[in-house]
Amino acid sequence: MAGKVVIRVDDVWKNFKIYQERNLSLKETLLRRRRAKYEAFWALKGVSFEVEEGTTIGIIGENGSGKSSMLKILAKILRPNKGSIEINGKISALLELGAGFHPDLTGRENTYLNGSILGLTRAQIDERIDDIIAFSELSKFIDMPVKSYSSGMYVRLGFAVAINVDPDILLVDEILAVGDESFQRKCLNKLYELKEQGKTIVVVSHALDQVRNICDEAIWLEHGVMKESGRAAQVVDSYLEEVNRQEESKATELEEVEHGARWGSGEVKITGVRFLDDVENERHIFKTGERLVVEMDYEASEEIARPVFGVAIHSRDGVHITGTNSKFSGTIFDKIAGKGSVRYVIELLPLLKGSYVVSTVVYDFSCLHPYDHHDRAYMLEVSSGELSDYGVFHIPASWGLHDRQPIRELEKD
Ligand SMILES: Nc1ncnc2c1ncn2[C@@H]1O[C@H](COP(=O)(O)OP(=O)(O)OP(=O)(O)O)[C@@H](O)[C@H]1O
Ligand SMILES: [Mg+2]
Repeated sequence: MAGKVVIRVDDVWKNFKIYQERNLSLKETLLRRRRAKYEAFWALKGVSFEVEEGTTIGIIGENGSGKSSMLKILAKILRPNKGSIEINGKISALLELGAGFHPDLTGRENTYLNGSILGLTRAQIDERIDDIIAFSELSKFIDMPVKSYSSGMYVRLGFAVAINVDPDILLVDEILAVGDESFQRKCLNKLYELKEQGKTIVVVSHALDQVRNICDEAIWLEHGVMKESGRAAQVVDSYLEEVNRQEESKATELEEVEHGARWGSGEVKITGVRFLDDVENERHIFKTGERLVVEMDYEASEEIARPVFGVAIHSRDGVHITGTNSKFSGTIFDKIAGKGSVRYVIELLPLLKGSYVVSTVVYDFSCLHPYDHHDRAYMLEVSSGELSDYGVFHIPASWGLHDRQPIRELEKD
């Protein structure tokens, strides 16, 4: 079913003037004849997209990429310099923190002010004010000026008003970043509810898991340009991949950052440690479910019989996730001498998104005498892959319905 297009953005460009001469004194400013020099900064550069009725669409991208500017254009708070937008339906927007609130007015007064800006009559607001206050959970504070509100309280009231004006299209910017856990859940539930009612929702968020879950589609802005659009999960993945790539290039020198302790008698030394992916590339960031090879170079100054190599993984907050060695795994290395390398191969990395540190060790066969022990010396970053469970690691398992007599029938007996 091809839906009706309710938002049409066509080649939108938006610039802001960035004034070059800063720190002018008041006098200098007042005495100026010519106008200040400025540079046009393009926050949006030719963005086009369409949204069909009933779609929930996410806008993602790094800080300053133009997401909020795009929302403000949709809300008609900003006008594009070039291009056009077309909106079919009643819009309600919860934009940046406190936008639309008057600091000296109380929460109640601001509700009336905001409601009327969003197109409600006084009588309609009278009807809804109790719901709005109840949703915001701010009844104790509703008659205080909003300038005394915390940022979370602002968002509570803003969201409560925005959803209670019966919009066809709801625009929300980063609500989930500010509210506390319980309010975030409440907002998410409300968004799901509105989504089920067939409302069109545009969400700007850095909470990528939430975008993946709640949005049908997403667009990714980078420096004001639309880099990708399509199915939300797909766009979020591409964006994460790009972020990881950038992090990776920053991380290369980080190899031994968290230098833990090192000890051992030194007849065998671990001289290099690398994390390799399935195509033998060295990386520090892996996705859950990927192949990860820990390769250790060693150098033995004499012949060593039956050395035992080991690897341990700790989470950054100190939990010992796993520790194993070649002997536990039933692999005996008869003897080593000189230089070589050993590989510890994980075919399917079960660790979930998070930061980990890896220890690499080589011991004698009794596992009592350390030749070389690098304790928690190597950083490993895991980003969410297709296996995106919650927690520390993925347990391979499956789900199914099990045929059993319905409980009701059993009760009859
Ligand atoms: N009123 C303004 N005057 C000057 N520059 C502005 C103005 N509003 C936004 N910009 C600039 O436009 C760019 C895009 O800003 P925008 O707020 O849209 O980014 P964003 O993607 O919402 O970022 P964030 O994730 O940090 O919220 C930024 O470089 C910002 O400095
Ligand atoms: Mg923003």
